[in-house]
Amino acid sequence: MVPTHKIENILVTGGAGFIGSNFIRSILLREPQVRIVNLDALTYAGHPANLDDLSDPRRHTFFQGNITDRPLVDALLRKHSIDTIVHFAAETHVDRSIHYPQIFVETNVVGTFALLEAARQYWAASSQPAGQDVRFHHVSSDEVFGTLGPQDPPFNETTPYDPRSPYSASKAASDHLVRAYFYTYGLPVTITNCSNNYGPRQFPEKLIPVMLGRALEGKTLPVYGDGRQVRDWLYVDDHSEAIHRVLTAGRPGETYNIGGENQPTNLEVVETLCQILDELVPDSAGVPHERLIEFVPDRPGHDRRYDIDIRKIKRELGWQPAVPLAEGLLITARWYLDHPAWMETVRGTPEYRAWIDRNYTARNLEVE
Ligand code: NAD
Ligand code: TYD
Repeated sequence: MVPTHKIENILVTGGAGFIGSNFIRSILLREPQVRIVNLDALTYAGHPANLDDLSDPRRHTFFQGNITDRPLVDALLRKHSIDTIVHFAAETHVDRSIHYPQIFVETNVVGTFALLEAARQYWAASSQPAGQDVRFHHVSSDEVFGTLGPQDPPFNETTPYDPRSPYSASKAASDHLVRAYFYTYGLPVTITNCSNNYGPRQFPEKLIPVMLGRALEGKTLPVYGDGRQVRDWLYVDDHSEAIHRVLTAGRPGETYNIGGENQPTNLEVVETLCQILDELVPDSAGVPHERLIEFVPDRPGHDRRYDIDIRKIKRELGWQPAVPLAEGLLITARWYLDHPAWMETVRGTPEYRAWIDRNYTARNLEVE
């Protein structure tokens, strides 16, 4: 692995969210000289609490603001001499994109466009010619590739895009814009398309924290449809490590797929979580937690199966997932058990209650 880029001053967008905050933690440890500017709008998904206990907080500066705010982004790039952008900020939940698609276009498409323009203009005007040791990394999803049948080969970097939800369509659009800036303007971009992440600090709207939170309260566990949909799951630390590799040694203009090389059904994931909780909290009201599983009406346009071929990043950058799914789920369950105050804070808003009502009441689920 030959380093191609040295990071000095990095702008992380969406760094108060689940993966972004984890990435900041990992960069502070891996890159002792790097200074981080974190731009996050603090939507319902962003929480300053995600940035508690950073190893070296003096190297991290937080700004609350929107990526679509060009004067703000321009000023941050200039003031902090940014040479590296890692773009996480997005609306990220498929179910929300079904109910509120517009904000997905505004943040994921228009926001990414605004950042690309800001980077292009700043790097072109600054003393460093564009393309010379600057980098724009775009964090994307395997969902842009659509859905697989049971026998289809996994997605690879040349699989045609076929998004099917407003979320995945908006991520696909942003990927296309990022790639266009490489070919048209020579902006040194890289893109990663990653499978489903899980781990500490994931907002309790996604499958794993929804199930952990509800199971610990003895509430029913809403499995969509028949629960036989398949996802590839990656522990969030592994994702941060992969992005770091791509950032420092990836080739500009390239896309790299990232995944955990597993293929459980949703039902298997939920059953595993139930078994873990049976062990960790044997005196919980919910034991055995599997009896809480309830099949509820499916998600419209629900992608059936994702599977991702990660041979390119293994071959070129020597990255591979380190945390097996069973171990990652155990670490994650322990984290949620040990951080009830975090869960209470992020779930304790009127917005969260309104979302749970909106998504689950129509599924006849007990929401109280
Ligand atoms: P998240 O929802 O936990 O966090 C998103 C963050 O972006 C929040 O802190 C939010 O406040 C911020 N944000 C939203 N809109 C913004 C705006 N307009 N301006 C500034 N900040 C804004 O998301 P996550 O799960 O951490 O995902 C991060 C990135 O990784 C996203 O781009 C997502 O598409 C991608 N991704 C996620 C997964 C996954 O499984 N979670 C998998 C693959 C790729
Ligand atoms: P999610 O965590 O929302 O991620 P994504 O839709 O991006 O894959 O959902 C993961 C899978 O779990 C997906 O197939 C939908 C399913 N799911 C449920 O069965 N019940 C739930 O309450 C949630 C939130 C998701």
